[in-house]
Amino acid sequence: MHGRTALVTGANSGIGKEIARQLLGAGLTVHVGARDRARGQAAVDELGEGAHLLPLDVTDEQSIAAAAAQVPELDVLVNNAGVSDAGQAPTETDLHMLRRVYETNVFAVVAVTNAFLPALRRSASPRIVTISSGTGSLGWSTGPNPQFDHRTGGRAAAYRSSKTALNALTVFYAQTLDGFKVNAVAPGLRATNLNPRAAESGGDPAEAAAQAVRLALLPDDGPTAGFFSWDGTLAPW
Ligand SMILES: NC(=O)c1ccc[n+]([C@@H]2O[C@H](COP(=O)([O-])OP(=O)(O)OC[C@H]3O[C@@H](n4cnc5c(N)ncnc54)[C@H](OP(=O)(O)O)[C@@H]3O)[C@@H](O)[C@H]2O)c1
Repeated sequence: MHGRTALVTGANSGIGKEIARQLLGAGLTVHVGARDRARGQAAVDELGEGAHLLPLDVTDEQSIAAAAAQVPELDVLVNNAGVSDAGQAPTETDLHMLRRVYETNVFAVVAVTNAFLPALRRSASPRIVTISSGTGSLGWSTGPNPQFDHRTGGRAAAYRSSKTALNALTVFYAQTLDGFKVNAVAPGLRATNLNPRAAESGGDPAEAAAQAVRLALLPDDGPTAGFFSWDGTLAPW
């Protein structure tokens, strides 16, 4: 994997930082995307050799353009940056909050992916991984044995529907980009800064990162347009 280059958005903390750490361990050079320079630099210092700070606010067009100009070639893009809502049902969801969540979790993924496509097209084996959520799975929200049923299922409507939209985009990118592998990950509940429920979960972010890294390093005969749970099993869309 030496000589290959990756960009992980929102890599200064949580699952993104663990993805960066494991990609470095596999021998890649990693651009550590971070909207806050100080937080990003702290992560780069912790991650060590091969990690490079890339200032990148995924919701800011100028920031995206400046970052893309610094990265002429790229093998792996991990769209990891994401934000949570406060668990509201759709009946309590105001449009300001809905737009804020979609801005980062959906619109920014399109903006960042498209900006880095020229760099990815220079790769012999381009890979895109989207960090989604099992809570965005409509299959796990309905049907005979839903993981997220009507008692809990309507909560976090903004966040969860943003991940449903992200899943759709993952499929459409995979179907559009010949020669690419484009897959989504459901990380499971992990102890990160995302929200209090995640923070208190005790889930190891590194375990989720490992699945993202597997998809980032897929061989040319690997799957595309897939939605994989952290343990490598296929998740329902
Ligand atoms: N933790 C879980 O249980 C869980 C479960 C399912 C899915 N996920 C997904 O996993 C991904 C990573 O989240 P996490 O759990 O690792 O939480 P986290 O520790 O809060 O990490 C989120 C990262 O995204 C960054 N970010 C947010 N908005 C950004 C922006 N506009 N520009 C650039 N970076 C931005 C954050 O930067 P700052 O530090 O500057 O805020 C942070 O580095 C997210 O997509 C999340 O939805 C997490």
